[in-house]
Amino acid sequence: MQNNAIQSVSGREQKTHIRELGINLDRWYAIARSTEVQTQPLAAKIWNRAIVLFRDSAGKINALEDRCPHRQVKLSHGQVKGDLIECAYHGWRLNARGECAEVDYLAENQKLPNCKIRSYPAKEQNGFIWLFSGDETQAEKIDLLDLPEWEHLNYIATVSVIDCQAHYSFLIENLMDMYHGHLHDDWQAWANPVLDTLEENEHQVTARYQAQSYYKIDKIWSISQLFFKSLRRLHPEPLEVSYVYPHWVSTLGSDFKIYCLVCPVSETATRAYLIHFTSLNAFWRLHKLPVWFRRFIKDSLFGAAQKLLDGLVRQDVLMIEEEQQAFLQNSERKSYELNRALASVQKLIRSQAENG
Ligand code: FES
Ligand SMILES: [Fe+2]
Repeated sequence: MQNNAIQSVSGREQKTHIRELGINLDRWYAIARSTEVQTQPLAAKIWNRAIVLFRDSAGKINALEDRCPHRQVKLSHGQVKGDLIECAYHGWRLNARGECAEVDYLAENQKLPNCKIRSYPAKEQNGFIWLFSGDETQAEKIDLLDLPEWEHLNYIATVSVIDCQAHYSFLIENLMDMYHGHLHDDWQAWANPVLDTLEENEHQVTARYQAQSYYKIDKIWSISQLFFKSLRRLHPEPLEVSYVYPHWVSTLGSDFKIYCLVCPVSETATRAYLIHFTSLNAFWRLHKLPVWFRRFIKDSLFGAAQKLLDGLVRQDVLMIEEEQQAFLQNSERKSYELNRALASVQKLIRSQAENG
């Protein structure tokens, strides 16, 4: 594990700035959506590592360094051939372990080159491809974040992709500081938050706010509140947000559950998947319907909150990227903070980067 949190500057130890901290690589990160990897290889990135993802003939996901051991070009430009990935340049084929398995122009007196690129543990679960890019021996000891609502027939999912040119800490702080509802006033997401309790341990920070929600999903037509503002009425609801390192989980009342799967790309770029679930639990009659019909409802309503979610993401990304730019221009400038949840978040980011 890299320890980049303490830098030695001319003999003096100096803390790395929060906006330059690394990540704990010994965690499972959602590096792509399942649907992004079909028959072609996909180039992806986590913390400055270029990765290629591809499916073998059984559909299983494999993850390798995205470089051909022959001349270092990107394997992701190549093609999948059975269980192997074939480089675009001279057609060398590599297996899932990253070993050279076939070269068509090998002469009779030549052996396959004994070269190997790094392979990474990868899993596919709940609509995402998860990668473990740290110490491989730890992979099976660490759980990946469960999203039970993904398959559950009572939840309707919407996914919005966040691509922002900023350090991941800006995104997490945005997600944990519910006072920024001010920014989303026109999208009517939540209102009047007041931080109530704060809990923290070495893996997570949970902030509970008293807030108000515009939505109540208790009638069959309530889903249309996602589309029509005039149907919304403010009412009190508890709002809970948790930084479950390295991801984020939130509930608003009992109707909404939101996840943010964070995949830091570099010190100044972050990709994340925001997954919004609307609960249909209030409709007990639904449970009596045949499973195929409930599945049909779930699938047809997939993406119902797309416009809302994408709108919120656009507003957040603009702010987060401005924060990053301001930091790059003047990293010495002091910021002022009123929300005590953010101190806990920064502490967790630092301890995971240092000791992870
Ligand atoms: S560079 Fe990949 S096969 Fe030659
Ligand atoms: Fe936001």
